[in-house]
This record gives sequence, C-alpha cells and structure tokens, in this order.
Amino acid sequence: MQSFQLHERASTVPADSYQREDWQKGYESVKHESDYWIDDVEGQIPAELHGTLFRNGPGLLDVKGHHIHHPFDGDGMISAIAFRDGRAYFRNRFIRTTAYQEEQQAGRILYRGVFGTQKPGGWLANAFDLRLKNIANTNVIYWGGKLLALWEAADPHRLDPHTLETLGKDSLNGVLADGEAFAAHPRLDHSCNLDNGAPCLVNFSIKPGLSSTITIFELNTDGEVVRKHAHSVPGFAFIHDFVITPNYCIFFQNPIAFNPIPFVLGLRGAGECIKFQPHQPTRIIVIPRTPPQTPLSKRKDGEIKILETQSGFVFHHANAFEQGDDIFIDSICYESFPEVEPQSDFRQVDFDALKPGQLWRFHLNLRENTVSRELIESRCCEFPSIHRERVGRPYRYLYMGAAHGDNGNAPLQAILKIDLESGVRQLWSAAPRGFISEPIFVERPNATDEDDGWILTLVYDAAHHRSDVVILDARDLTQGAIARLHLQQHIPYGLHGSFTPESFAPSL
Ligand code: CO
Repeated sequence: MQSFQLHERASTVPADSYQREDWQKGYESVKHESDYWIDDVEGQIPAELHGTLFRNGPGLLDVKGHHIHHPFDGDGMISAIAFRDGRAYFRNRFIRTTAYQEEQQAGRILYRGVFGTQKPGGWLANAFDLRLKNIANTNVIYWGGKLLALWEAADPHRLDPHTLETLGKDSLNGVLADGEAFAAHPRLDHSCNLDNGAPCLVNFSIKPGLSSTITIFELNTDGEVVRKHAHSVPGFAFIHDFVITPNYCIFFQNPIAFNPIPFVLGLRGAGECIKFQPHQPTRIIVIPRTPPQTPLSKRKDGEIKILETQSGFVFHHANAFEQGDDIFIDSICYESFPEVEPQSDFRQVDFDALKPGQLWRFHLNLRENTVSRELIESRCCEFPSIHRERVGRPYRYLYMGAAHGDNGNAPLQAILKIDLESGVRQLWSAAPRGFISEPIFVERPNATDEDDGWILTLVYDAAHHRSDVVILDARDLTQGAIARLHLQQHIPYGLHGSFTPESFAPSL
C-alpha cells in the first residue's frame, strides 16, 4: 500500500505568475489551416521519438466575429504533430461537422451551444430549439485504423489521419445509431482479462434523465465493439470521465441538480442549468466489466455497486487499481462546481473566486462497502496523464498540468510530476508568459522504467502569440525542455489528445 506525505511548501513565487491579458490572447480563433515541417526548433527532437501527437480543442471562439459564450462551445480543430527521424511535421484542420459548414456558409451562429452560446435574437429566437450541435471538440484517438474526433453527447467524426480531412460521422461499424453518444474519455486496457491479454479500448455513454443510463463499450484492436452493456442508475448523471481496472468500470456521479426549463425557454444553455448540490454526497458507481448476461458462475466481479463519499465535483480521473477487495482511485476534485452564468464573459473569469482542482485518492472496500479519501496534492492541477500500460493498474508516476504557484487557483502554466511511492515532486514551469495544455506521456522504445520517456505538451507563448510543442524528459522535468518546437501560429487552449506510435509525417 502506498502512502503519502502532503508537502506544504512555502511559496517562493510571486502571487501573480501571469498577466490576464496574456492568458486571454490564447483564446483567439485560429484563422488558418496549414501544413509544414517545423524548422524553428530550440534544442533537439529525440531521434527515437516516432509517432504522431493528435490534439483536439476549440479552434474557433467566434463565428465570423460573433463571440461564442464558452470555449466548450467552440468548433473542434485537430492539430497533428508527426515525429520522424528527429524532425516534426505540423498540420491543423477544422472538423467539417454539419453545423460548422452551415455556420461558416451563413456567416452567423445557427445553433445554440450546450454551454450558453445563443443564436442572435434573444430568448425568442432560442426557445424550444433543443437541437444539439455536435462540435466534435473534446478528444481525438487513433484506434483500429481510424482517427476519431470525440464529443461526449453525440457520435464520433472520422478523419483521414494523413490529411485530417473529415470523412463523416462514424457509427463504430453500425453499433451507434445516428447521433448516439460515445464519450470523449476512452481508456486503454493494454492487457484485457476478458480477451486473453489482448489490448482493448473501453469507453461509455451517458443518457441522463430522472434515472440515467450508463452504457459501456469495449473495442478490440480492429475497432470492433466486442462488448456493450447498459445499466440504469438513479438520478441525473453528468459524467465526463471514468476509470477502469481489470474487472470494473468506475464512475463518479457528481451531486448536481438539472432544471431544464430555462434551457427550453431559450434563456440558458443546457450546461447553464446544472446546479451543484454541496450538501449531497458524490455517488461512486462500480460496474463489473463482464457483461451482465454472463452466467454468475463465470463472473468474478459481482454486481453493480453504488457507494457514497463527500460532496465534490470531478471532471477527470488520473487512474484506478485493484488490490483484493480494495479499489484505489486517484481523481482531480473541486470543492464545488461554479454555475456558468448567462451574462458572464469567460475571459473575465475571477480565478481567485474559484476553488482549484486538487488531487485526491479514494479508497473503496467492496466487501465492507466503505469509502475513504486522502488529499495527495493541494496545488491547483488538471489534465492527468500516466504511462499507457499502467492504466487500471498500480502505478508510480503521475504527470499533470498545474498552476505555477503552489496555492490558490490560477491558469495552468506548469507540468507537475509526482512520484506516488516517494512523494517526490518535480515541476517544470512555462510562467510567466507560457500557458500549458494537457501533458501526454510517451514511453521511450524498449524502456523498462515507468518514467523512461517524454512529456509532450503544447504551450501557448503570449510573448510571441504562438504555440510551442515542448518536449520534456519525463525522468527529470527539472532539467528543462529538451526541445521547443515553435509553430507558425497559436493553437487555442485545447482539451484532450493522444499519441500513436504511427508517424503520419510525409516522407522526407
Ligand atoms: Co476531459
């Protein structure tokens, strides 16, 4: 059993590690789609680094000058950085969703966004328009020979991994109905018990309501859905992410209430109708991965369980693992979830008024049905990443985006590495003028140590209004970037992405 010491550090950095105007500039829309070899490089790209980093996130923060209300409503744009022979090739493309094409052609906003973007014309123009705009902006994965852009409330869009051309919506070989949800947070089980040790990709979908349906999908390496089963749970569920272990899928049902009336009447976006309930517990839903129709004699994982813990809000989990009847889950928790207000401007957010995300370890005992929790990291953090083969298993090293300062809430400017065995931390910071995105760990070929590899992250550099691809040595973040690849433009703060060992760089 691992144990932690919470390190209370004296602050050694100025209270203001950034200027708000710098941070805001990272939210400008991207005007151009481009393709080029990245020749402006400081340091050296490791020759062994072979593959492609795909990133997704809002590329447009306005539609022809009409501002959207929240970055989560921005049209998805994929960036690909393909590494080969010590060089890197950049490409970015907007995802040609139906709504993107219609709005670009019309030159104005035609759809309401989930996070409050409204069509012009006030509430009357928006009332009773309950259509969802599938903006495909949250994650991108390369699996089963397909590049898929994901958005949690609808079906994936497929793109050509070489050109990033949008090929259309993807039904996972007929498994998904048109518009059926497929979440944006798949987890890789690199050695699946149910498939004799073959890798599989596990994902889910949520159909919220008075009671909510959680559907679990497991895909083999050919991209075929080999297991799909649905479970009904009480109450409205707003669930963005989940974790897996060899035997379970685990979901945190945040304590929220949903009142759809302002949405239906055109006054608020659906996401603005969510209200955090600080006096209700968070429910932890533990669902066996063995399909329920399997005879009980062949199941080791029992029935679905719902446990309760203190109120809190979780977007992202770092990892989970089993030890006998115990399950450990590491998650980034917020003490509360702020409402998105209709009249607010996200660029003016008061960081100090919001609670930071912090890393907690939850300990579930499935025999006693108990939950306890422990704070691991109090520094403001988000976007956890680990070695892909440790997903669902005991692990030692965790990497996250973090604030530059060690207390309070602030934009993510640093990468924090935590050694969960020794408690030792390493921090690399891009402050004062750099703002980081989700770090991704990529293992060095033939490596044996868990942290032998690189951290890849996009950093918005406000001094030059451009983004850098930064490569860090994951064993020692403190030695600084081993390479900084300067892009010719900026990439707005993105959401998620992934790395595939296949390089989609053109031949030299
Ligand atoms: Co996410």
